[in-house]
Amino acid sequence: MIKRIKSGIPGFDELVGGGIPERSVILLSGIAGTGKTTFAFQFLWEGLKSDENGIYVALEEHPTQVRKNMEDFGWNVREFEEKKKIAFVDAFTSAIGKVKEYEKFIVQDISDINEFTEVLKNAVKDISAKRIVVDSITTLFTSRTPTTPRNILLQLKRTIYALGCTAIFVNQLNTAERGSGGAGIEHLADGIIKLDLTESNGELKRSILVWKMKGTAHSLKRHPFEITSNGIVVFSDRIINL
Ligand SMILES: Nc1ncnc2c1ncn2[C@@H]1O[C@H](COP(=O)(O)OP(=O)(O)OP(=O)(O)O)[C@@H](O)[C@H]1O
Ligand SMILES: [Mg+2]
Repeated sequence: MIKRIKSGIPGFDELVGGGIPERSVILLSGIAGTGKTTFAFQFLWEGLKSDENGIYVALEEHPTQVRKNMEDFGWNVREFEEKKKIAFVDAFTSAIGKVKEYEKFIVQDISDINEFTEVLKNAVKDISAKRIVVDSITTLFTSRTPTTPRNILLQLKRTIYALGCTAIFVNQLNTAERGSGGAGIEHLADGIIKLDLTESNGELKRSILVWKMKGTAHSLKRHPFEITSNGIVVFSDRIINL
């Protein structure tokens, strides 16, 4: 029997046979505004209920901004940082050339995948984390990194497996490439979850699709979901036809 990790997203675990298989590396793909950061943070938040501490690697915005956004959903992040149950890795600040260090875990050069991995490992060990979110992996690929996206993902996957963690890697898609993940990384992921926003009758509709999930049966249907003031809710008993 595989151990399953609860996502914390009402309705989602039903789509994947009760939860995400432990030690998976999941790509969470979607275009702008589809709810990737919210989904990923909700996953970290759920871990706190079962003593599975979480690391959030911020590549897209400053950790302070992320904390603020999450507090809007009622997720009091700072309190859990003080208790060493959540930790942020700042892989954002250095990229915009600011030198002041606000954070405990900082990646100085995101084009250096070895440094990135080391900082991540230190953060995981510091709080004995079991869950990791990297938001977004795409930012690592588009920097001056000499390593190919496939090799970056491979290195991160090995590290996460060795640490015994389960990870969500946010994968940003632009509207043109909506269907794909690009760069041959989709084969390496243990699971792929796609979030979508589509216009129908003058209205944007949110939907979620589990594209792949190794080690378990899963829904192959497109389900509607909503973002509420408490976070994401998936309607596992409803199907959306595009
Ligand atoms: N309190 C809230 N209640 C309902 N919906 C909200 C709330 N806060 C944010 N949203 C919705 O969530 C969307 C943003 O979600 P999120 O930041 O998770 O998307 P994302 O996929 O990470 O986007 P990006 O690719 O731009 O980072 C907003 O555009 C808004 O529609
Ligand atoms: Mg985001």
